[in-house]
Amino acid sequence: MSKELALVAPSASNAPRYAHVVGWGMYVPEKIVTNDDISKLVETSDEWIQTRTGIKQRRVASEHESTSTFAIEAARRALAKANVSPADVDLIIVGTSSPEHLFPSTACIVQDALGAKNAGAYDLLAACTSFIYGLSQAANSIKTGDITTALVIGSEALTKLMDWSDRGTCILFGDGAGAFVLQARSEPGGFMNSFLRSDGSGGPSLILPAGGSAMPATTKTVVENQHYVKMNGREVFRFATRVMASACQEAVRRSGLEMDDIDIFVPHQANKRIIDAASKKLKLAPEKVVVTLENYGNTSAASIPIAICEAINKGQIKQNQTLMLVAFGAGLTWGAGVLKWDVPPPAPPTRRQEAQRNLYYRWARVKSVLRRVVRSLEARIFGNSK
Ligand code: UT7
Repeated sequence: MSKELALVAPSASNAPRYAHVVGWGMYVPEKIVTNDDISKLVETSDEWIQTRTGIKQRRVASEHESTSTFAIEAARRALAKANVSPADVDLIIVGTSSPEHLFPSTACIVQDALGAKNAGAYDLLAACTSFIYGLSQAANSIKTGDITTALVIGSEALTKLMDWSDRGTCILFGDGAGAFVLQARSEPGGFMNSFLRSDGSGGPSLILPAGGSAMPATTKTVVENQHYVKMNGREVFRFATRVMASACQEAVRRSGLEMDDIDIFVPHQANKRIIDAASKKLKLAPEKVVVTLENYGNTSAASIPIAICEAINKGQIKQNQTLMLVAFGAGLTWGAGVLKWDVPPPAPPTRRQEAQRNLYYRWARVKSVLRRVVRSLEARIFGNSK
């Protein structure tokens, strides 16, 4: 498909609408932590980590970075790629297990920073499966005509929730974000179908025990290290290898396709052995499989969009290919989705467009500060009266 696809606005017409990816972007922090660095903290080795997981290094948030700062940068890059104004975004979904706060949502912080004044915004917590859940929800909202443009982001600063003395977890995770802009088009394609599942009986396998209503923060929870990620790695490993292939088969079937129609397989980047097991079950040639975990580790909700951005940059994903995405994670949750990568590569933004965009973000920041000032003035003038 070489011609531009026409945007479809919400309307009373019952014409079919499809949710195409029109922009994508990723952001990872600069700080690199290698396996050798970790072997100075816990009893492990580069050799053990590489053999058992495939990970060589990961990116780690600095003190001043967090889930929202990653999400905002990835979102800005995706919007620039799509040449879509933040004012045209109807919905922002941030998939994350390391939100900025329990509330307000990270999505609302992103909405404010982008100046996405016409968007609804919420966080979605399906752990490492969040991005596929988010794509599915956004695509369905577009297909039903509720919205025209959605921003789906996977963003994590999970290393802030790691116990750096627990070698069962701290070797695995990394930080970063990836974002997609989805838009309504009348031409078939885009995010086709998904298959989402959960099994809450497996919750204890991967959990951050404290900080919620079940175990509010106390001195005891801090002393007992209950504010860190706890994982039974073997259980999660067994679960992942059990569910991935069948989820993919179901998503492909629901999309009216055969496994042979899949050009590229983008699995959640958790462990190379898990990816290999799923690829083998699905009889997929290695060149069809996207693997980026050696550089980034497991970035949870961000792993699939980061993997896609990397594969596009390397030329592994090309226009008009059919992608199969699959993920699994805490919950337990798992899911797969089929995505036609069919919108022509957007032209790079001109300097003028870039300047306008930067100005828009600065102005959004000023307006946000003004709204805060007005709120505090109102509080001073009116006190508690309405
Ligand atoms: O997004 C979802 C997030 N979670 C996952 O994807 C996790 C899935 N699970 C895994 O990736 C793997 O289970 C791990 C990488 C976490 C662990 O690999 P494993 O092959 O399942 O190792 P294991 O837990 O069965 O442990 C094997 C041995 C043990 O020693 P013994 O009992 O055989 O003497 C562990 O104590 O390796 C030891 N071990 C380590 N040794 C060096 C466990 N972790 C480490 C380590 N370095 N980091």
